[in-house]
Amino acid sequence: MTRLNQNLNTLNKKGNWLFKISQRRYLGNKNSILPFIDSIIKNEIGHFNSLCDIFSGTGVVGSYFNTKNNKIIFNDLLYHNFISLNAFLNQNNFDKDKLLDIINGFNNLTIKKENYFSDNFGGRYFSKKNARKIGFIRQSIKKLFVEDKINIKEKFILLTSLNYSIDKIANTVGHYDAYIKKELKVLEFKMEMLDINIQNNANNKIYNKDANFLIRDIECDILYLDPPYNSRQYCDAYHLLENLSLWQKPEVFGTAKKFDRSKIKSEYCKINASILFDDLVQNAKCKYILLSYNNMRNSGDGRSNAKISDEEIMKSLSKRGRVKIFEHDYKEFNTGKKRRNDNKERIFFVKVEN
Ligand SMILES: C[S@@+](CC[C@H](N)C(=O)[O-])C[C@H]1O[C@@H](n2cnc3c(N)ncnc32)[C@H](O)[C@@H]1O
Repeated sequence: MTRLNQNLNTLNKKGNWLFKISQRRYLGNKNSILPFIDSIIKNEIGHFNSLCDIFSGTGVVGSYFNTKNNKIIFNDLLYHNFISLNAFLNQNNFDKDKLLDIINGFNNLTIKKENYFSDNFGGRYFSKKNARKIGFIRQSIKKLFVEDKINIKEKFILLTSLNYSIDKIANTVGHYDAYIKKELKVLEFKMEMLDINIQNNANNKIYNKDANFLIRDIECDILYLDPPYNSRQYCDAYHLLENLSLWQKPEVFGTAKKFDRSKIKSEYCKINASILFDDLVQNAKCKYILLSYNNMRNSGDGRSNAKISDEEIMKSLSKRGRVKIFEHDYKEFNTGKKRRNDNKERIFFVKVEN
């Protein structure tokens, strides 16, 4: 049921819409190839008890395989992803009616006073009116938590609802490297409750760590790897959501208004990516490895060129067992301008023997 309706909105008992985990724009998300990944797992593995989605991003892959009896491990370097993974996929309890009341209250606000968020992002990524509201809501979520009126799970849910709702009205092509420089339309800002199936979450674990550190501490049947492919840093593309989630109100720079991200840059986007990849693969304690990595080694656009060559991938994976490669035609989600017809999403599969 959940799988078939992955992309459809659902209504809760009070007649409000619910956000699904897949309902946000995220570069390289694997939402459209979930059936492809599923078919490989069904054909090559069959039954399994645990899966680790160690570069989770939105979490749609791990979430797809999340059932009552499975254990799914999620992890991402970015804090705003850690928040949404916890909101949708950890086992903690929350008061749904209380959250619906808070969300309805937030939706009905009109805020006149400027704040950190509207000063920096208003008139750019959002209308001034919406930006004032977003900043005010973020501050209110902090206050509710500090005053013990919501628990940590409820805080994660409200923050995720805020992040998902602003994604719908942001004046961007889906990421925050830039905003569209034309007159801003005031789109309707609307937070919604999340579609959470807590019964499935009892065994899950969620981390906010560098994958190469975490790999040394975990074991699983299936290790799913979906690292960044190229020099494009996710902390650059999603700096605004990261800033809003952390809410430390740092100084921001340049036209895109980014904060200092030097501590959250991914090494997978840099020159040593293949060394890190090899370290990750050799230290994995698992029965199977699935790797998503596309075929854009030399795409012509320097920033899009893949950081790890096919030879390097094969060399690292072959040390653990025989490698099979599955290919699937894939429409890449980039800035919306370019569509590469030859773009293939590939899964490298290894049954671990060594
Ligand atoms: C290709 S995206 C994953 C997309 C995801 N499978 C989905 O469907 O949404 C790669 C993710 O790896 C994360 N990442 C980058 N370097 C990392 C590292 N060293 N450790 C953990 N996560 C990392 C990024 O923040 C990004 O979310």
